[in-house]
Amino acid sequence: MFEEFKDKVVVVTGGSRGIGKAIVLKFASLGAKVVFNYASNDEAAKKVIEEGKDYSGTIECFKLDVSNFPQVCEFFEKIFDKYGAIHILVNNAGITRDTLLARMKEEEWDAVINVNLKGVFNCCKAIISNMMRQRWGRIINIGSVIGSMGNAGQVNYAATKAGIVGFSRSLAKEVASRGITVNVVAPGFIDTDMTAKVPEKIKDQILKAIPVGRFGKADEIANAVSFLATESASYITGEVLHINGGLYMG
Ligand SMILES: NC(=O)c1ccc[n+]([C@@H]2O[C@H](COP(=O)([O-])OP(=O)(O)OC[C@H]3O[C@@H](n4cnc5c(N)ncnc54)[C@H](O)[C@@H]3O)[C@@H](O)[C@H]2O)c1
Repeated sequence: MFEEFKDKVVVVTGGSRGIGKAIVLKFASLGAKVVFNYASNDEAAKKVIEEGKDYSGTIECFKLDVSNFPQVCEFFEKIFDKYGAIHILVNNAGITRDTLLARMKEEEWDAVINVNLKGVFNCCKAIISNMMRQRWGRIINIGSVIGSMGNAGQVNYAATKAGIVGFSRSLAKEVASRGITVNVVAPGFIDTDMTAKVPEKIKDQILKAIPVGRFGKADEIANAVSFLATESASYITGEVLHINGGLYMG
């Protein structure tokens, strides 16, 4: 796959750390022009660019909130103006606000829906007409095993991740004739800042349920995402690829 993405412009949401960062660096290492956004941590974002500076591709970043539609439209307009096209969109930005439904505040529900689900709508909506005119594109949405299994304390998060599957399958049907595929990559438990928040006792319980016997690595998600973006994956659309060490077999 060396230089596979030499002429491709890739946008990754939430690229400053964790899975998003691994996806940014993967595409840059394969020659792509990568643009990512992030919510707040300028230092972390700069470090991603620094880490990828010797790769054959390029990396640039913008701070913006994916749940803000006008901001998202402005962001994508800038990219279209500069590069003339967006070939690959990876909707990765996501947050958690975990608590049992009985205790969940309306704001905790809204925050997760707005970033994880409305963010996907916003980014897809902002690029889809251009991508259709281009007659080639790849949209890869990052779901979660929790969208299929459910999890106590995550009704908001699980609803967004299950929602992403329905969204992606519907969009896949709308745009298949234009050479665009839309797929979901659904990670299990991956070592990132997001899972660092999970209490040790719960982590031990989860680990016991993973047949492979370990948490996943962000690179293992990035590898699958980059494959789905290749020409070789052009017959895969509307699919959910679970990457979870056997925790859930869909
Ligand atoms: N880590 C896991 O085990 C795991 C498992 C399943 C699914 N996922 C999913 O993978 C994705 C990445 O997870 P992660 O663990 O790397 O998370 P993370 O918390 O380490 O990073 C999240 C990224 O999203 C960005 N972000 C957050 N809110 C944003 C907003 N409003 N606008 C723009 N960017 C925003 C952050 O700046 C950051 O770059 C998420 O969608 C998450 O739900 C993660």
